[in-house]
Amino acid sequence: MAVKKDKKTVSREVSLEISAICGKHFLNLDHLHYGYWKELEPKLINLAQAQINYAEFLASNIPAGIKIILDVGCGMGHMAKFLIEKGYEVDCVSPSHFLAKKAKELLNEKTNIYECFFEELDTEKKYDLVMFSESFQYIKPEESLPKAHKLLNADGNILICDVFKKPIESRNPLPGGFQLERVYAAAKNCGLKLETELDITDATAANIDIEHQFFAEVAQPVMGLVEKLIESRHPLILKLVKWKFRKKAAKIEKKYFSGERTGENFKKFKTYRLMLYKRTAD
Ligand SMILES: C[S@@+](CC[C@H](N)C(=O)[O-])C[C@H]1O[C@@H](n2cnc3c(N)ncnc32)[C@H](O)[C@@H]1O
Repeated sequence: MAVKKDKKTVSREVSLEISAICGKHFLNLDHLHYGYWKELEPKLINLAQAQINYAEFLASNIPAGIKIILDVGCGMGHMAKFLIEKGYEVDCVSPSHFLAKKAKELLNEKTNIYECFFEELDTEKKYDLVMFSESFQYIKPEESLPKAHKLLNADGNILICDVFKKPIESRNPLPGGFQLERVYAAAKNCGLKLETELDITDATAANIDIEHQFFAEVAQPVMGLVEKLIESRHPLILKLVKWKFRKKAAKIEKKYFSGERTGENFKKFKTYRLMLYKRTAD
């Protein structure tokens, strides 16, 4: 199924690419997922280690007997490399040319990197495990799960580790993730059996606090100072730019600087789960 490259899809991909560049440059981050913060002080400088702990946690939940894995939404390819070093054969899917290029540079020619959206993937190859490491939230479960199911060997598995929404009526200040019930229903519809479900919300929530701290203590004051500087030199241009992008600015203000993006709200409105599904006989 062809994916429409609309404004939302493009801006999501570009944000992930910018995160990859900045994360690598400033914090030496290889991964694009949350950190797993058990037994680790929640500080920005510990984020790289927390991401490695997440990768270890994910790998520790791969069932025995798995040989070949499809890593859907492989980021810069470091999770694939990590798994290859553990003895698995891994292929990757990446809709981002920038991230696919990084992954190709990192991995050798034994790894197929399908440069496309998962929804558009066209291959006859079968996998023992289709893995979504924080990429599940970008594809409707009614599309991703049947598609993943078709790519599985007879007793294959689907491993998901991602953010989901809790069924709460009030306004959710943290966007992203599907309702869990929707995922369970889509999985049931294609004959998948839930083998493992682990709630790791408490071990991941620190990521949001760290992000909040960064925006409050670094991004917001720096932006204020830049604005002051421009105002002193080009007050009219600043006024015009602020007026032109007022809606976008209001959105960013609400999302990042309203003080609602906290670990506490994350625990209230979101749930971070690892789910392992097994294909049942057709
Ligand atoms: C948050 S990053 C996670 C990257 C990596 N799996 C990790 O754990 O670090 C989300 C990834 O999903 C990919 N992605 C987004 N939409 C996708 C889609 N429709 N099909 C395949 N991958 C997608 C992005 O390009 C990105 O690599």
